Amino acid sequence: MSSFSGNPALEEFWHPVARACDVNPGPVSVQLLGKNYAIWQSGNGEFTAVADRCPHREAPLSAGCVTEGNLACAYHGWVFASGGVCVRVPSAEPELAISPRAHLQTYALVERYGLLWLCPKTSGEAIPLISQEDDSEYRRINTPVDIWQTSSPRLTDNFMDFSHFPFVHTATFGNPEETVIPKLELGPLEDGFYGYRYGVNASNPSAASATSGQASDIVEREMTTGFQLPFAVRSTIRYRSGLHHILLLLTTPRDDISSYFTFVVWRNDDFSTPADEIISFDLAIGAEDKAMLEKIGGTLPLDLKETVNVQSDKPSVEWRRQFANLLESGLGDS
Ligand code: FES
Ligand SMILES: [Fe+2]
Repeated sequence: MSSFSGNPALEEFWHPVARACDVNPGPVSVQLLGKNYAIWQSGNGEFTAVADRCPHREAPLSAGCVTEGNLACAYHGWVFASGGVCVRVPSAEPELAISPRAHLQTYALVERYGLLWLCPKTSGEAIPLISQEDDSEYRRINTPVDIWQTSSPRLTDNFMDFSHFPFVHTATFGNPEETVIPKLELGPLEDGFYGYRYGVNASNPSAASATSGQASDIVEREMTTGFQLPFAVRSTIRYRSGLHHILLLLTTPRDDISSYFTFVVWRNDDFSTPADEIISFDLAIGAEDKAMLEKIGGTLPLDLKETVNVQSDKPSVEWRRQFANLLESGLGDS
């Protein structure tokens, strides 16, 4: 498949590129859709994103340092304020005006769910809604933003698929007795996600008990899995105890074949189990997916005929079909 990450349609979406607490104050270098950005936190708590290139001699601004909310380039010390305005050129006599060409273009960067989301082009697209964010019965747990050497379409395809559970998740929750996937019906889920509902009897080893909140060998899970274009997948798990565990699985294309991955958890437990214990099992599950996906080269073909699909692939095929249509629209715009 040709490059997808250069498609202009993707520039109109918000993409998570870092955990907010990891940009304190920065600068941090991030890569999105093949372009490099420097992001930092200015003194008033706002975050700023600029191209990672100093207009003077092209040094990466992410190699600089932040002082009192301003970013200073490491090469000749030019200083930029939060709006990208160049406020100091140390080599120039102070009374000389600074050229407007020294100012930096900034890009939209907002904090949501503990993550920084970057949108290269202004657009009307929204960050996916998770209603539980504003529900006091739920707590949110963030995890680090990791780099996976695989393409975002492969990640999203994987998160929409559960026929790999018994084979890939052998050390976590995969149940070798449950390989047959019932016929799945796709439809709208809450908060604008689109996908399917299903029940699964999952293995529940002792390492999973903090997450599932119970100690039996097998646990019944009522689940939903759905996507929002381009790459957000939400998986919800309801246990018989009433415990509700929501995972927002987020992948961001750094380029065609490498991606950021992070997930965010919301759950309505009694908040007594430390967050680290809750997420350690989900992190182990993610490591199993990562090990599998990094064995596969290139990006996922969007032409459905280039891979063989079976009934259990219906959800991921639907995501692929809609994603391909989105890219078509981007090519039409360019
Ligand atoms: S390259 Fe940045 S100040 Fe010279
Ligand atoms: Fe998986």
